Amino acid sequence: MSIYKWLNERVDLDGMYTGLLDRKVPSGLSWAHTLGSATLAVFVVQALTGIALAMYYAPSPDHAYDSVRYIQTAVISGPLVRGIHHWGASAMVVLVVAHMIRVFTMGAYKYPREANWMLGVVLFILTMAFGFTGYLLPWDQKAYWATQVGTNIAGTTPVIGDMLVKLLRGGSQLGAGTLTRFYAMHVLLFPMLIAGVIGLHMVLVIRQGIAPKPKLLEDGSPLTTSDAQYPAYYQAQYKAAKRGDQRFWPDVIAKDAAVAVLTILVLVLLAKTFGAGLEAPADPSDSSYKPLPEWYFLPFFQLLKLVPGSLESVVAVGIPGAGILALLFLPFYDRKSTRSFRHRPWAMAILGTLMVSCALLIGAAYRDIGPVVEPDTGRPLTSAERAGRALFKGQGCNSCHQVGANKPTGKAGDLPDAPDLTEVGLRHTGVWMHSFMEDPLRFHKNSKMPAFGPPILSHQEIEELSRYMSSLRGKNGDAKQPQFVDTFPETPKHKEP
Ligand code: HEC
Repeated sequence: MSIYKWLNERVDLDGMYTGLLDRKVPSGLSWAHTLGSATLAVFVVQALTGIALAMYYAPSPDHAYDSVRYIQTAVISGPLVRGIHHWGASAMVVLVVAHMIRVFTMGAYKYPREANWMLGVVLFILTMAFGFTGYLLPWDQKAYWATQVGTNIAGTTPVIGDMLVKLLRGGSQLGAGTLTRFYAMHVLLFPMLIAGVIGLHMVLVIRQGIAPKPKLLEDGSPLTTSDAQYPAYYQAQYKAAKRGDQRFWPDVIAKDAAVAVLTILVLVLLAKTFGAGLEAPADPSDSSYKPLPEWYFLPFFQLLKLVPGSLESVVAVGIPGAGILALLFLPFYDRKSTRSFRHRPWAMAILGTLMVSCALLIGAAYRDIGPVVEPDTGRPLTSAERAGRALFKGQGCNSCHQVGANKPTGKAGDLPDAPDLTEVGLRHTGVWMHSFMEDPLRFHKNSKMPAFGPPILSHQEIEELSRYMSSLRGKNGDAKQPQFVDTFPETPKHKEP
């Protein structure tokens, strides 16, 4: 007790309690009012898991991938922590956007919360920036190529485009400089900025109180929030709204805490079931890789694909730029005092159109990429295996052979019935497949499979193909026990040269 007294005299604990927690709040707050604090909870989770990951992560192209792989395979709870951080990023975006939609539909950005709305827009931008910089850090194929595309978009900015790309990449090429730069932004710059803005955002929420139900601010209201009478009207109505016995502590806090705990449970569940993927290490020479940015950038990414090249730079910079300005200054051009969504048909029509078009664009982006049917080896392919996979398509092996859900591409009647290779790695050793592919007739007198030995393919290429073939073991193949049924060469039917 004496410690409490000592502290109270010096830091005014009682005053803090009444100022921060023991406040009356407007009655009739909805569950949607918990979205902001749920976002804050996920942000704290991101900070904690981020610190844990940073203890193992090495931000250089030579070590980044291996350090992430180490987290995935050797660190206790590593996959769980990384999974939570991965899904937490998406959760942040979902919650921030949901919170913004809530504030928008309830007209809570209007007088006197204009400044806090603008801070909220800054928080939204920072959340996206966190996502963009974090995506590169694992330094796998997806990370590398998506960032390549992302930074290229910045390069289409008129006049300052080149400078912007160099600034982002730390040079003209995406490389070591980019990785350290993105890392510094992700773990130093953005956390400092966002902590400050979150602090301000919350101070304002506490100072201004929670916005009441829209209809409490509509009866008898002046037409616009810029009307000279509006502040007085607002104060009177707000006071009336707080007549109930709802208090911040414990009523609001209890709801907030319940939603926050639920959100975190969902995150853990997502992390446990899906984890965070890791593809093959970044390969700057493999430009055939089709990059797919994180889903929350997809509407924009897909939109860019739809516009003709000549308009690209206008759209690439114009759309996000105009969008941000429109959001930032929303409280200043929308000065009508109506708050309920029932009385704002235009605002709701615009919101609805935006949401539907984003959903359609995301859908179209996934459809364009197509289902990614890969032999599920449960691990990323090595570079030799990937080279083999490329040859498999390049040499038209896939016109006769099926792998996984990828049906043969050739016409059924024209081609011999070729075995399904989905699990060929369980049937044959790599050595056998190497020599079989060189000359199938050596093994089966009547083989209909064309020979691919030199000069058609080099020994190295055949080896890459056989490495890829060996990796084909169906789902969770690395855990299966192969049953090799290699045959021995028969006497060649044709003359050896
Ligand atoms: C014109 C159709 C055709 C093409 C193209 C073709 N194959 Fe085959 N492949 C066959 C047929 C038919 C067999 C079965 C022949 C046999 O038993 O000797 C076969 C057998 C195989 C086998 C052995 C499978 C097993 O279970 O015994 C492998 C491995 C294989 N092919 C790999 C390849 C690779 C790699 C390529 C591309 C470089 C390729 N094939 C291209 C028709 C084709």
